Amino acid sequence: MVGKVTVAPGIFLWREKFSLLQQKDLLAEVMQKLDEAPLYRPVMPGTGKPFSVEESNFGALGWVSDKSGYRYQPTHPVTATPWPAIPQALLDLWEEINGTPPPQCCLINHYRGAAKMGPHQDRDENDTSAAVIGVSLGDEAMFRIGGKFVDGTWARGGKTLGVRLASGDVIAFGGVARLAFHGIDRIWPGSSRLVPGGGRLSLTLRRVTR
Ligand code: SIN
Ligand code: FE2
Repeated sequence: MVGKVTVAPGIFLWREKFSLLQQKDLLAEVMQKLDEAPLYRPVMPGTGKPFSVEESNFGALGWVSDKSGYRYQPTHPVTATPWPAIPQALLDLWEEINGTPPPQCCLINHYRGAAKMGPHQDRDENDTSAAVIGVSLGDEAMFRIGGKFVDGTWARGGKTLGVRLASGDVIAFGGVARLAFHGIDRIWPGSSRLVPGGGRLSLTLRRVTR
């Protein structure tokens, strides 16, 4: 275990921030909460093309995508019930990194096989003062972040940075990097045995409102 590593301005990495035992405990809690708020497959706004990942959320506000657009909402789009609470270990992690106020959303992404996530910005939040924090569980993945930072804003293109994330790793992007483009190029199926049935779960914590 090593401490905080600065990979670029505003982008920080903690390798194996969660020990194997902590990963197992966290995963058990996540799986239990996913029984309440099952993973489902969102579709792209407009086109209705299905995501290659499955998603769910914990917290007061969940991020969803459907034909009408991207938004935050307090209930699961399939079950129509409120999202389960964010696990305490993740609230503690947030407090350690970002302090208060606490996160309102924990987005869960489940990657299997060829699933990936195209480059995008997290910009559906009214409050972008806190860093976005991502926890990886299961298979390794290539996280790509960057783009062009010109005149104080991020655009597509430019130099990107690939960070290979393993189970238990934590990445945070805030400050000048809060609105940087980022995505997941690929995962390495079978590189971890943590997640039952295989794959990678990412847990992304965000503050949404001011
Ligand atoms: C995301 O940007 O929504 C997810 C990134 C990840 O899976 O690590
Ligand atoms: Fe994102």
